[in-house]
Amino acid sequence: MTEPDSRVTIHMAASLDGFIARKDGRVDWMETSDEFADGKTMEPGFVEAFLKTIDCYVMGSRTYETALNFEAQGLGWAYGDKPTFVLTHRELPRTRETIEFYSGDLAQLVNGRLRPAFRSIWLVGGGALSAEFLRLGLAEEVRYSILPILIGEGIPFFAGLDRDVALHLAEVNPYKNGIVELRYEVRK
Ligand SMILES: NC(=O)c1ccc[n+]([C@@H]2O[C@H](COP(=O)([O-])OP(=O)(O)OC[C@H]3O[C@@H](n4cnc5c(N)ncnc54)[C@H](OP(=O)(O)O)[C@@H]3O)[C@@H](O)[C@H]2O)c1
Repeated sequence: MTEPDSRVTIHMAASLDGFIARKDGRVDWMETSDEFADGKTMEPGFVEAFLKTIDCYVMGSRTYETALNFEAQGLGWAYGDKPTFVLTHRELPRTRETIEFYSGDLAQLVNGRLRPAFRSIWLVGGGALSAEFLRLGLAEEVRYSILPILIGEGIPFFAGLDRDVALHLAEVNPYKNGIVELRYEVRK
């Protein structure tokens, strides 16, 4: 049986010109310094409580490799002890028990495997996979955190999307560090 209100959220942070990483995958530009006096503060307690509401993560292999690199640099693993599904056709290192590799039909993964088991399903990148999720109509929500920077070129948030996707703007949150979080619902 499917979780009655299961929800797939696509969440990433991007430059104002719509890139999630430089062409070579670097995300060094994410360390911005800005101040927006009227913005909200991201309270650690709130973030912690919010992360608890996420039931599982889904990501493409290149995002997984970036996460492994971060971990190797001592920056930690951002996905806690939540089940994490990594899409790949390759043999990649499985560094923790919560990781499961999947290859093949995305609709089967989401509707056949994830929705029956999880309520809040977060697709955390990258651009290739987020476009594929939207193209297949597999996501209900897009959360887009815009950083106060332009980087000119890079990997786009929705790489290779081949059709229009109508959205409903549901929430706008500006923060003191200049990041604006937009939450959209995908119109069916
Ligand atoms: N700014 C942010 O918030 C943010 C968030 C996430 C990632 N990023 C950045 O984005 C970059 C990665 O994004 P990306 O668009 O290049 O790649 P990606 O979406 O992370 O990964 C694409 C890969 O996923 C695998 N894949 C996709 N669909 C599949 C399927 N149906 N079955 C099996 N495997 C499938 C393929 O891997 P194989 O080739 O292994 O088969 C494909 O090459 C990284 O540089 C990362 O740092 C940024």
